[in-house]
Amino acid sequence: MATMEGLIGLVNRIQRACTVLGDYGGDSALPTLWESLPSVAVVGGQSSGKSSVLESIVGRDFLPRGSGIVTRRPLVLQLHKTEQGMQEYAEFLHMEKKRFTDFSVIRKEIQDETDRITGRSKQISHVPIHLSIYSPNVVNLTLIDLPGLTKVAVEGQPESIVQDIENMVRSFIEKPNCIILAITPANQDIATSDAIRIARQVDPAGERTFGVLTKLDLMDKGTNALDVLEGRSYRLQHPWVGIVNRSQVDINKNVDMIAARRREREFFSSSPDYGNLASKMGSEYLAKLLSKHLESVIKARIPGIASLINKSIGELEAELDYLGRPVAIDAGAQLYTILELCRAFDRIFKEHLDGGRPGGDR
Ligand code: GDP
Ligand code: NA
Ligand code: MG
Repeated sequence: MATMEGLIGLVNRIQRACTVLGDYGGDSALPTLWESLPSVAVVGGQSSGKSSVLESIVGRDFLPRGSGIVTRRPLVLQLHKTEQGMQEYAEFLHMEKKRFTDFSVIRKEIQDETDRITGRSKQISHVPIHLSIYSPNVVNLTLIDLPGLTKVAVEGQPESIVQDIENMVRSFIEKPNCIILAITPANQDIATSDAIRIARQVDPAGERTFGVLTKLDLMDKGTNALDVLEGRSYRLQHPWVGIVNRSQVDINKNVDMIAARRREREFFSSSPDYGNLASKMGSEYLAKLLSKHLESVIKARIPGIASLINKSIGELEAELDYLGRPVAIDAGAQLYTILELCRAFDRIFKEHLDGGRPGGDR
C-alpha cells in the first residue's frame, strides 16, 4: 500500500509540474505522460449538485455553490496527500507564491479569478483555474469541476452558450483517462438526465462512468429512487451512489461538512427505502469507491507510465544538458524538478518490482 501511495503521489506531482511547465514540454514524452494519468470530472445539468459532490469528496468547504450558473470556468483540482500532522494548504497556478490555509479565502479567490476572465457576467470561459490542495486527509487525485449543462441561454448569455458548454464538457470527458461522475438530481426523471446523455456519448459501455444521484432528500413523498440506485433504470458497469448534499438553506446557515456528513449518514440509515443500501450510499462511500477504482486504474497503467517516465528521464537529461546546468530560467528549474520526480518514481517502481510482488502489495 505504501508503495502504491508513493507512486500515485509522484505521478500526481509530475502531473502538476508538467502543468506549471505548460507548452515547454514540447515534443517530449511529457505531454503523453500527462494524458495517461487519470482524472475525475463531474458532469451534469446546472445546479444538479456537481460542486457540492466535489467538495464532499475533498471533505472541505471551498467551492462556490448555489443556484444558477455559479461554476463558469473549469476548475482543475489536484489533491496531494501529505504526511500526518502537516498543515493543510492550497496553491493556485495563477499566483504560485501564495499559500492559502483559509478555505473560505480559496472560495473567494476562485470567484475573483473566474470574474477576472469572464467579468461579473453569466458568460463562461474554457480557460481552467488550476488549484492544488496539500493535506494529510485527502487521497491523491485530480478532480475537475465543470460548468453545468443548460438547455436555454438566459439574459446576458449568447445563444451559443448551450453548445459551448457542451463542447467544453465533452473536451474533458472524451479523454479515455477521464473518469466521469455523472450527476443527476433525484427529483428529476433519469430519462431526461443531461449527465447520462453526454456520458453515454463518450463512454457507451459505461466503463468509466459513475452514476451519482443527488437530492434524494428532495424527492416527492411516497416516491423513491430504488430503480435507479439498483441499476434497473439505467445500467452502468459501476454501482450507482445516492447522495444528500447540503441544501441552499444549509449553505446560508453555514452548516459545516462534518454536520452535513452526519446528517447524510442518518438520512440513509434511518430511511425505510434505503436502509438496506446504507453502507453503499453517501459522499464518504463515493470517495472510497473512487479512490479504489483509481488505484486499480493506475496500478494497471504503472508499467506504461514507468516506461514513459524512463523515456522522459532520457529526454530531460538531454534537454538540461543542452540548456546547461544550473539553469536560471524558470523552465529549466521546472524541468529539473520533473527530472528529480521522474527519477524518484523510477527508483520506487524498480524497488517495487525487485520486491517480487509485481501484482502490487495487497
Ligand atoms: P452545481 O451547479 O451542479 O455545481 O450545483 P451546486 O453544488 O452549486 O448546488 C446547487 C444548489 O443545489 C445549491 O443550492 C445546493 O445547496 C443544492 N443542492 C445540491 N445537492 C443537494 C442535495 O443533495 N440536497 C439538497 N436539498 N440540495 C442540494
Ligand atoms: Na449551480
Ligand atoms: Mg458548480
